[in-house]
Amino acid sequence: MTERNLDDKTILVTGGAGFIGSNFIRFLLRRHQAVRVINLDKLTYAGNLDNLRDVEGDSRYEFVQGDIRDRELVRALFPRVQGVVHFAAETHVDRSIIDAGEFVLTDVYGSFILFEALKGAPHVEFFIHISTDEVYGSCDEGFFRENDPVAPSSPYAASKAGADRLAHAYHVTYGLPLVILRPSNNFGPYQYPEKFIPLIVTNALEGKTLPLYGQGTNVRDWLYVEDSCRAIELAARRGAAGEAYNVGAGNELPNIEVAGRICDLLGKGRDLIKLVPDRLGHDRRYAVDWGKMRELGWAPETKFDEALKATVRWYEANAEWWRAIKDRSRDFKAFYEQNYKDRQ
Ligand code: NAD
Ligand code: TYD
Repeated sequence: MTERNLDDKTILVTGGAGFIGSNFIRFLLRRHQAVRVINLDKLTYAGNLDNLRDVEGDSRYEFVQGDIRDRELVRALFPRVQGVVHFAAETHVDRSIIDAGEFVLTDVYGSFILFEALKGAPHVEFFIHISTDEVYGSCDEGFFRENDPVAPSSPYAASKAGADRLAHAYHVTYGLPLVILRPSNNFGPYQYPEKFIPLIVTNALEGKTLPLYGQGTNVRDWLYVEDSCRAIELAARRGAAGEAYNVGAGNELPNIEVAGRICDLLGKGRDLIKLVPDRLGHDRRYAVDWGKMRELGWAPETKFDEALKATVRWYEANAEWWRAIKDRSRDFKAFYEQNYKDRQ
C-alpha cells in the first residue's frame, strides 16, 4: 500500500463551504501542519462562509468563489494543486424531486469538468470523488458491497451515480488517479437544517412539529461527520486509484427512533412527532459493508448516542448560525409541502 504524504501538498477542496467540506477543511488543517487548502465553492444556498470563520485567517487556507462548471477557472486552479477532494454537489433529495436540473448540471456535468481538468494535470497525485451510498438504491436485506450494481432511486442519487460511474470510466480510460468514496448519511455540526437530523433538532428547539415521512420507519445508517472526515483523509493518503470504498457506521435506526432520541435529549415530548405524506420514491433502507475501508485502516470510532448528544448541544449553542440560514429554506419547504398536498 503506497502512503501519500499530505503535509507538503496543496489540496483543492470543492464545495468546502458546505457541511462535510467545511468539517473536512478544519480536520485537514488541524491534522497537517504544512498542508495548504484551496476551497472552490459557488456559495449556493447550502454554502456558507460562516462554517469556516475559525480558519479564514489561516495563511494555509484560500477561498475562491466559483462554479465547478466554469472550465477556465477550474483549469487555472489545477496547476497549483497536487490533490483534489471533490464534495461540491446539489445534495438534498427533496429538492431533486421538485427540480432535478441543477443536480444533473452540478453533480454530473460539474464533475465532468473536474475530471477533464485532471486529464490535463498529470502532476495531481490523487482525486477523491465523494459519491454516496445512495447510488446502490434501497437495500432490502444484507449490505451492499462496492462491486454491486448501482440502482439509484431519486434524481439526486441518479446524478451522483452518473458522476460516480464517470469517475470510474475516467480511471479505466485515461488511468487517472480517481478514488471513489460512498459514505452513508452524515450528521454533526454545520449541517444545513433542511436535512433530517438538524431539521428535527432545530424544529424541536423552536417548539415546532417534527415531520416524519410515511410511517417514520425508513432506515438510515448514521455516520458522524468526524468519522467521515477521517475516512476521507485516509483515502487521500492510501486509497487506490480506480477503487470505490463504502463508508458506513453500523448505526442503523428508523427515522422515528432518531427523532424520539432527539426529543429525549432536548427534554421535549415525543408527541411533537407528526407523520406526514411520504417522500416520492422513498428508499426504505441504506446499508453498506465497509470492510474495504477497514482493510485500509479505518473504522468508525464515535458512539451514535454520544455523537447525537454532541450534535444536539452544538445546535443548541449555535442558534444564531442556523436561524440565519433556516429562513432561506422556508420558502422551499412551503413549496415542497404544497406540491405534495396537490398530489394526494
Ligand atoms: P452541502 O449541500 O452541505 O454542501 C454542498 C456545497 O457545494 C455547498 O457549499 C455549495 O455551495 C457547493 N456547491 C454546490 N454547487 C456548486 C457548484 N456548481 N460549484 C461549486 N460549489 C458548489 O453538502 P454535504 O452534505 O456537505 O455533502 C458533500 C458531498 O458529500 C456531496 O457530494 C454529497 O453528495 C456527498 N454526501 C453527503 C452525505 C451527507 O449525509 N451529507 C452522505 C454521502 C455523501
Ligand atoms: P435526508 O436527511 O433528506 O437524507 P437522505 O434522504 O439523503 O437519506 O433524510 C433522511 C431520512 O429522513 C430519509 O428517510 C427521509 C427522512 N426525512 C423525514 O422523515 N422528514 C424530513 O423532513 C426529512 C427532511 C427527511
